[in-house]
Amino acid sequence: MLRHSVRRFTTTRLHFIANKLKTSDLNQQTLEAKYAVRGHIPIKADELSQHILENPDDHGLPFESIISANIGNPQQLDQKPLSWYRQVLSILQYPHILDLASSKGVKELFPQDIIKRASTLLKDVGSIGAYSHSQGTPAIRKSVAKFISDRDGYPADHNKIFLTSGASAAVSYLLQILSRDENSGFLIPIPQYPLYTASIALNKAKPICYYLKEETNWSTDPVAIRKSIEEEKAKGIDIKALVVINPGNPTGAILEESDIADLIDIAADHGMVLIADEVYQENVFTGKFVSMKKVLSSLLEKDPKRYSNVQLASLHSTSKGVSGECGQRGGYMELIGFSSEVQDVIFKLASINLCSVVSGQALMELMINPPKEGEPSFALYKKETDTIHDDLQSRADALYDAFVAMDDITCNKPAGAMYLFPRLHFSPEQYPELFTESEEAGIPPDDVYCIKLLEKTGICCVPGSGFGQVPGTYHLRTTFLPPGKEWVARWEKFHQEFVKHYKK
Ligand SMILES: Cc1ncc(COP(=O)(O)O)c(C=O)c1O
Repeated sequence: MLRHSVRRFTTTRLHFIANKLKTSDLNQQTLEAKYAVRGHIPIKADELSQHILENPDDHGLPFESIISANIGNPQQLDQKPLSWYRQVLSILQYPHILDLASSKGVKELFPQDIIKRASTLLKDVGSIGAYSHSQGTPAIRKSVAKFISDRDGYPADHNKIFLTSGASAAVSYLLQILSRDENSGFLIPIPQYPLYTASIALNKAKPICYYLKEETNWSTDPVAIRKSIEEEKAKGIDIKALVVINPGNPTGAILEESDIADLIDIAADHGMVLIADEVYQENVFTGKFVSMKKVLSSLLEKDPKRYSNVQLASLHSTSKGVSGECGQRGGYMELIGFSSEVQDVIFKLASINLCSVVSGQALMELMINPPKEGEPSFALYKKETDTIHDDLQSRADALYDAFVAMDDITCNKPAGAMYLFPRLHFSPEQYPELFTESEEAGIPPDDVYCIKLLEKTGICCVPGSGFGQVPGTYHLRTTFLPPGKEWVARWEKFHQEFVKHYKK
């Protein structure tokens, strides 16, 4: 043992090779955290994709490419970036273009309103290569405040807006400041977007699940939420926040105004923070998105005494909507009703991170303040955004139609967002071999289904167990972003064979 450990001998002392880190040496919370949308199935999909790339002629797989339906990442698929964004951003990246603004080539590439907006943004931001104010460039925050007040009809204060690197950074700040100790609880919807369970685990806090009701299109159940609050409080849990994802991921459901008001009532009664994750507010096909800020503002108007203690953090992002600029990391968080003491702590966290990505801040400005009718870029902007919106809707419809026609699958029609969350009606009585395989492999049956789907068709989606589901039920989450119908046909064929093989 000693012989192998000695690396070199000096006249003064022996040098031993120190051990490498083991996972047991690490912060155990980082091991606890799980994130299914980039979990073991997407990792396997990446390996298969690499295998096809390295062996194009003899990869031996029954498909030619991977269909990445596991994550809402539109530009990873075929969605093109909007010209408006990229034209302004190009000038921000290379301001020298402005010096050539009178040349024919530049005039052709950059209409007058693009030049004007880029010049204004450069004046506001300085260089996008410089750190900004920790909370985000003030002029962009003012623009966000105007967007919010135009959207809701109630004022917004730019001093209470933080520009963040995607909505994820905002979630991370909120969960960090609110996780006081192991008894800090967070009410999260089930099914949920796994950023929440992962962040709760990282902060050693406690997730408290409130189930959305699948039978009524994933609606919330305020009575059940109140009951679970009482139960948790009796166990000594201090519930810090209630998370609401609207429009829903993975459910695609949109909350009614009255449902939102019920949730605000709960927060008012119990003094917990509301985290309104509204990143899909532009992805609406049926019904209407109403922001939690708007509902709270109208309640405050009617009964200021009852609602004056409500604290709301509402989040938005450049990653979704028709922008799909996930890689640019733009987002904002508006704080309503927080004390300045608490806001200062969030400001400190933002300062420790220096600032959010400055090109992402600029992109947020372009998203919430697009070209207006009559401006040179308007027609192209409208055409591109309408096409993306209509495309998403028709892809959602096509995939939904396919699922409802499949045996032993039911699916709620998505009203918004980018996902379908169909239920797989598998039971041990009808699918005994599937349950035996699942038990032997130590993974749930929906996981077995998703692995086989990947291996047979190249379609990568995520089992419902990664998002949470009522025990004994099985689901999967898929985006409807991949283009074309061919992959849907592949899925239909797979499912037919799966049922034929496993069903008794
Ligand atoms: C509900 C929800 N919230 C937040 C995010 C994080 O988005 P980003 O950090 O890219 O803004 C996502 C991403 O898919 C999401 O689905």
